[in-house]
Amino acid sequence: MLKEVISSLNLKPGDIVLDATIGGGGHAREILKSIIPGGRLIGLDQDPIAARMAEETLKDFKNFKLINDNFRNLDRVLSKENVKSLDAALFDVGVSSFQLDDKSRGFSLKIEAPLDMRMDPGQGLSAYDIVNRYKEKDLADIIDKFADERFSAKIARYIAQARRDKPIETTKELAGIIHKAIGFGYKGGRIDPATRTFQAIRIAVNDELGAMEEGLKKAVSWLNIGGRIAVVSFHSLEDRIAKNLFRGYSELGIVRIITKKPIRPQFEETVKNPRSRSGRLRVAERI
Ligand SMILES: C[S@@+](CC[C@H](N)C(=O)[O-])C[C@H]1O[C@@H](n2cnc3c(N)ncnc32)[C@H](O)[C@@H]1O
Repeated sequence: MLKEVISSLNLKPGDIVLDATIGGGGHAREILKSIIPGGRLIGLDQDPIAARMAEETLKDFKNFKLINDNFRNLDRVLSKENVKSLDAALFDVGVSSFQLDDKSRGFSLKIEAPLDMRMDPGQGLSAYDIVNRYKEKDLADIIDKFADERFSAKIARYIAQARRDKPIETTKELAGIIHKAIGFGYKGGRIDPATRTFQAIRIAVNDELGAMEEGLKKAVSWLNIGGRIAVVSFHSLEDRIAKNLFRGYSELGIVRIITKKPIRPQFEETVKNPRSRSGRLRVAERI
């Protein structure tokens, strides 16, 4: 939804913009094209590899600064960068394709890797800790709450049983246990039934919903009147956070909601990039 995101931000030369999720820098590149001359982009990502990749994507530009931090700390980051206010902010939340495809990070159940799933490798808690140390009841709650998985209790029970013999160490071990719990074989082509549980554990590892709520609230407070905030999400709970926050702020007269309904990717985009299928874009303007 690159085109839709960029046009929704109403950018103009000279704007100061926060890209809270720099990733590979694809959105940042288009933002920079729209705000030169004179504009400035601050890019954040909690994954240090993202900043390195984005540097390469943005090598033709000068007026940007990439910072390795969680967007829940954006107050501190923007103050340190002497930013006074923002003309636009973008949150393209969730996991990036390069994180999913990375053979060492454990985000994908299709790639055998240690159970990690940390976007910020400096953080203590990893998927290994949640899977091997959390109480069965807490595991079931995470899988139920973040994945709306009807087999959550059973999956948690199978995990708790399996780890009695030895710790669950890899993505494929965990996927195998989930498949057994759900009780039907995975036939290629369909979405793997373990996907939802993996996503739930990843959301818990990175406290993705807590960080999102905190980051969005802070970003709105930095916007100039007329400044826009765009949120792209891939999970219904994330979309709900943006929706409810914008609705609450609109009732208080703080923002005007630009997208009454979320914008969905065009069919052609979903064919080219099947991962974009569940994407939703919501936009609000500071008033
Ligand atoms: C979908 S990707 C962004 C892709 C990017 N818009 C692009 O054009 O390449 C999401 C990125 O957000 C980062 N991220 C997720 N939660 C974050 C948080 N709380 N703070 C900072 N970065 C975060 C991830 O590490 C990942 O690199």
